[in-house]
Amino acid sequence: MEDLRGKCVVLGVTGGIAAYKMADTARLLVKMGAEVHVIMTENATRFITPLTFETLTNRRCVVDTFARDFQYDVAHISLAKAADLILIAPATANVLAKLAHGIADDMLTTVVLAARCRKLAAPAMNTAMLENPVTQDNLAALKKYGFEIIEPEGGLLACGDVGKGKLPAPEVLADRVLRHLAREKSLAGVRVAVTAGPTQEALDPVRFLSNHSSGKMGYAIAREAMLRGAEVTLISGPTALDAPPFVQVERVQSAGEMFAAVRRVLPETDILIKAAAVADYRPAEVAGDKLKKRDEDLSLALERTDDILAWAGRNRHPGLFLCGFSMETRDLLENSRKKLEKKGLDMIAANDLRTAGAGFGVDTNAITLLTPEGAEELPLMSKAEAAARLLDAIEARR
Ligand code: CTP
Repeated sequence: MEDLRGKCVVLGVTGGIAAYKMADTARLLVKMGAEVHVIMTENATRFITPLTFETLTNRRCVVDTFARDFQYDVAHISLAKAADLILIAPATANVLAKLAHGIADDMLTTVVLAARCRKLAAPAMNTAMLENPVTQDNLAALKKYGFEIIEPEGGLLACGDVGKGKLPAPEVLADRVLRHLAREKSLAGVRVAVTAGPTQEALDPVRFLSNHSSGKMGYAIAREAMLRGAEVTLISGPTALDAPPFVQVERVQSAGEMFAAVRRVLPETDILIKAAAVADYRPAEVAGDKLKKRDEDLSLALERTDDILAWAGRNRHPGLFLCGFSMETRDLLENSRKKLEKKGLDMIAANDLRTAGAGFGVDTNAITLLTPEGAEELPLMSKAEAAARLLDAIEARR
């Protein structure tokens, strides 16, 4: 999804070796739909050319305050006004020092000084330069002036030293911008817990019982809630998915482990959304050694797992919003409404495995949102969109 459509991002690139990473950062932001303007310092042009950024952003890359053929009347003021966010990355010790003291002697520092929008800086330099008290003081001053500092990472630096000072990966930088600019922050300060994926119930050290859940729906909900400003905990069964950024992920394997995690987070949760496909039964005995095959057939004794959602419904605190999912292959609405009532839920998102495009593993879903008062049937849409509609409905009812 083009989550940054209509947003204007100014990237300030200064003269460090990590400047090359900004080509990918610019590309990712353009892909997210943002209007990206790049301003380079003179020194940055020695590491990467303006043409690279111009090709990726489809816009003129600005280097010098006094270029006369530029599209804006007073370029630094226009850009400063247009920007929804400025990210200075890599930010050298030199530019941090200038910004911390209000020095505006080139296009980048002038735009930053003139801008009222949110400003992020990602320092990248040699460890000794970073740890120098002067740089640390400048960083502290910038924080005081409202800059958000993206902490440099540790590792092997370009100078051959090992230590702190690396610019984070382009994905990390782009995600930071995304979190600030995407969506209204309608869930700011709200604590959302989401369960996702299947559970695995061990039979022996080699085998387990599970289901086809991919986790995509739950991960999409966690991501959407994060973009809306919520503090999100994602309790995930085994999946192949990358965790959404800025989400606290707790990985579990069995229904028992998922239950323990939900019990732990529930008192600090405002909205619990149970998208996980939890096993209803587990092997009554887990063999310590691999079960060896024999000539005769094998029957397995299974025992019930706890119904996590029903437990949450019985142990809810005031203000908690409880949303379940219901997967059926027949009598979708009737069965789902029974679950809504029996488990004491505020909402249940019902989906029929037999509807084309609504099954496990695919990127789309067709859900019907049932509440004690009524039902809202949503058409087939991407799981990302379905997550947004689900959260819209929850927000409208809280
Ligand atoms: N659920 C749960 N704990 C379980 C089983 C289910 O918390 N042990 C939750 C699921 O996360 C989901 C909801 O209950 O949000 C409904 O799950 P579903 O599998 O559709 O229904 P069940 O309650 O398991 O009933 P049935 O299998 O008979 O359809």
